[in-house]
Amino acid sequence: MAHIMGFGGYVPEKVITNEDWANQLDTTDEWITQRTGIKRRRFVAEDETTMTMATNAAETAIKDAGLTSDDIGEIILATDTPEMMTPDTAALVQHQLKCRNIPTYDLGGSGCAGFVQALDVAKSRIATRPKNILVIGVELISRMISLKDRTTSILFGDGAGAVILGPEKARAEVLDVVSGTEGGYAEILTLAAGGTRNPFNAKSLESGDYNRLIMDGRRVFIEAVRRMTEATLEVLERIGRVKEEVALVIPHQANLRIIEAVRNKLGFDEDRFYVNVQEYGNTGSATVPFAMFEAVNNDRIEKGDLVVLTAFGSGFHWAAAAVQF
Ligand code: UT7
Repeated sequence: MAHIMGFGGYVPEKVITNEDWANQLDTTDEWITQRTGIKRRRFVAEDETTMTMATNAAETAIKDAGLTSDDIGEIILATDTPEMMTPDTAALVQHQLKCRNIPTYDLGGSGCAGFVQALDVAKSRIATRPKNILVIGVELISRMISLKDRTTSILFGDGAGAVILGPEKARAEVLDVVSGTEGGYAEILTLAAGGTRNPFNAKSLESGDYNRLIMDGRRVFIEAVRRMTEATLEVLERIGRVKEEVALVIPHQANLRIIEAVRNKLGFDEDRFYVNVQEYGNTGSATVPFAMFEAVNNDRIEKGDLVVLTAFGSGFHWAAAAVQF
């Protein structure tokens, strides 16, 4: 049994509008709105980092759970934009929160599916070793990709979301999680520089490769729709429930058109899909936990609701979780 005891989230204050992008790149509010549904996104201030955003979201979740950092038994942090190559960002967050000397892990490279996959890992950890696990999804994308590339820069934002998962009955039970990977698509969405294939050095700096996000947007789009839809149905089948019983789906927030396509495939009304991509853009592994934090605080979720989280990211990785409030 794995139950969510508290929810947390953080986004930086600085708002970047589509007009701001149109003032510096060859793009328009109309193009961005039509193709993505995004109107605004948040970018970090100079003194913020992946660690500070994750810590802010974690503090909110710990407080929301009525716990202190002493009660946390493990941290699993999903990010593709870590504070450093080593050590893991989770270790830095452990220190910031003044937790005990508990184990911490980063789950890196799962792109936007990272948080839901981390939930899968956390749930199975609790089954073998009952403890309270802080699960975080955090992304500081604005400092990692080229802000001169109009095909990618306009899509992303910075942010963090977190939950506390514990073995005792609490506000919402994570009934089941399904995850999958198709590594054959790995080259379709990559940020290679900084890894061993393409180390960060004078050559990558000169070529501009150090922050180049390679993405075949259309193929990502098609696979995202397919996998998020299938994963939603798969997790429902696993728990023996049908889609009509789902009160709310919280999908990964990458693009309104992707979300709408998943919703149409599932045959759900608009009010049964949580959407905030217009406000924050794609915050990678943070979109799902941050949207869940917002949905809980906006009273979009009531006691008794069955909620499905579904996400897709580079790898390709995908995952879906069924959560009973
Ligand atoms: O979480 C995973 C992260 N990635 C994603 O989720 C991405 C999924 N894919 C998408 O969201 C969409 O494919 C995009 C929003 C990235 C692109 O939309 P699209 O409808 O697939 O457009 P496109 O890539 O086919 O580009 C259409 C045109 C191109 O011009 P030409 O070749 O038709 O003359 C692009 O150069 O739009 C151009 N374009 C832009 N124009 C104005 C690309 N980016 C921009 C831009 N402003 N920002």
